[in-house]
Amino acid sequence: MRHEWSNRLTFILAAVGSAVGLGNIWKFPYITGEYGGGVFIFAYLICICLIGLPIMLAEIALGRRGKQSPVNTMLQLSLEAGSHPSWSLLGWSGMAAGCLILSYYSVIAGEVMAYSFRAGSGMFNQQTVDGVKGILTTLVSDPEKLLAWHTLFMGVTVIAVAKGVRGGIEKTISFVMPALFVLLVVLVFYAMNSGGFEQAIDFMFTPDADKFFYARDQLGQYLMDAEGEKIFTWKPMMVAMGHAFFTLSLGMGAIMMYGSYLNRYVSIGQMALIIVSLDTVVALLAGLAIFPLVFANGLDPAAGPGLIFESLPIAFGNMAGGRLIGTLFFVLLFFAAWTSAISLMEPTVAWLTESKKMHRVKATVWTGTVIWFIGLASIFSFSGTTLGDILRILFSWFGLEYLELNHWFFKQSLFIIIDFLTASIMLPVGGLLIAIFAGWVMERDSTEREFSFNNRYVYPVWSVMVRYVTPFLVFIVFLNISGIFKF
Ligand code: PFF
Repeated sequence: MRHEWSNRLTFILAAVGSAVGLGNIWKFPYITGEYGGGVFIFAYLICICLIGLPIMLAEIALGRRGKQSPVNTMLQLSLEAGSHPSWSLLGWSGMAAGCLILSYYSVIAGEVMAYSFRAGSGMFNQQTVDGVKGILTTLVSDPEKLLAWHTLFMGVTVIAVAKGVRGGIEKTISFVMPALFVLLVVLVFYAMNSGGFEQAIDFMFTPDADKFFYARDQLGQYLMDAEGEKIFTWKPMMVAMGHAFFTLSLGMGAIMMYGSYLNRYVSIGQMALIIVSLDTVVALLAGLAIFPLVFANGLDPAAGPGLIFESLPIAFGNMAGGRLIGTLFFVLLFFAAWTSAISLMEPTVAWLTESKKMHRVKATVWTGTVIWFIGLASIFSFSGTTLGDILRILFSWFGLEYLELNHWFFKQSLFIIIDFLTASIMLPVGGLLIAIFAGWVMERDSTEREFSFNNRYVYPVWSVMVRYVTPFLVFIVFLNISGIFKF
């Protein structure tokens, strides 16, 4: 017998556990910093409402109807709708995206674990900006240490997934989420008095369209074309949209998977709204806690993935009780990352057990090992290795030493490439297909039934969104990026 969530609260907890994670507290602040603040947040919020929310509903509805892993759910629902079984490819690309995302997610979560020990040992006490930067550099330039933490994180994730979805997640999330929330609020209060709060509010909520729409180099200077004009770019829009998918765990079947354990008697409209609101509040609180510290200490908001590891320790090192608060914060962030990691792995493990009849433990260990291995790419990325460096080494094994790899693409790290490929391309494409499938391929009867508690208003609005508005918006961003169409 296939189990179901014990009640509707459990589903919300699990879905919030999946949604709230490093995406909110680590990624949201640093990409907001990189893409100029206000307009980025504005674009992200629009994407959450017009793209994220309708797709969240679609994924829950599809999952609950299909009752299997995303691959088999899509297979069954496409047959039911009299359509082509190749819709199950959506499930496959979701599994690939989940494994790729988890490969670097685990490395960052490993850093979070390392930081909880550093906070506990008093290493941040009275640290200056340079001191804190030094602590981060020491960690990321030591691949062996990162590898050890990555291995540990993958280990605890494998254990949780092997035990099955129910065991653990419910209990963990019911204490982690409220506690994380309280600590974030404490940090926001601390940040209010740090001297950088006004500047942070200004940065986060005053739209500066130039910084968003015009390309800049790594030092933040605008790039110019041959005529001396700034260069217009849609990349930040693509990142903002991609992040809406990433932060809500959409486009790869994680929410579809969790929806499949949901019983018939709950209103999916209400649940989606709760999940999306909580996720957004946590991200905004993280921004409000971090940016004041960044400005008060003269840090660079566009510092990249190290942003929270550079800013928060300064606060913990200088506030009363900071040692305890810092430790607690990183421990809670680890748990939040863990509950997200579980959902990244679940679709693959569920498919292996369903279709390959593999034992759950074996399926989890295999999946975990493959992901662990891909994670090595990100470990080397953080110590500065680029794709070009890796290819050069590989080529040299075959005696091809003189190959020129000067294209900008080869100067990126594998972490950047994997992150862009998954969050900005695979998840939005997956989400677009889910919207088209739910809106156009499935029969009205089937989708309407999933909305049985909300069929008065929610269903008609959702139906218009998922058929027209959401696919149109995602499509426009892709057309612009591909250069086929320019606004
Ligand atoms: N939503 C998670 C976060 O914000 O950290 C990351 C994530 C989990 C993305 C599950 C995708 C997913 F399927």
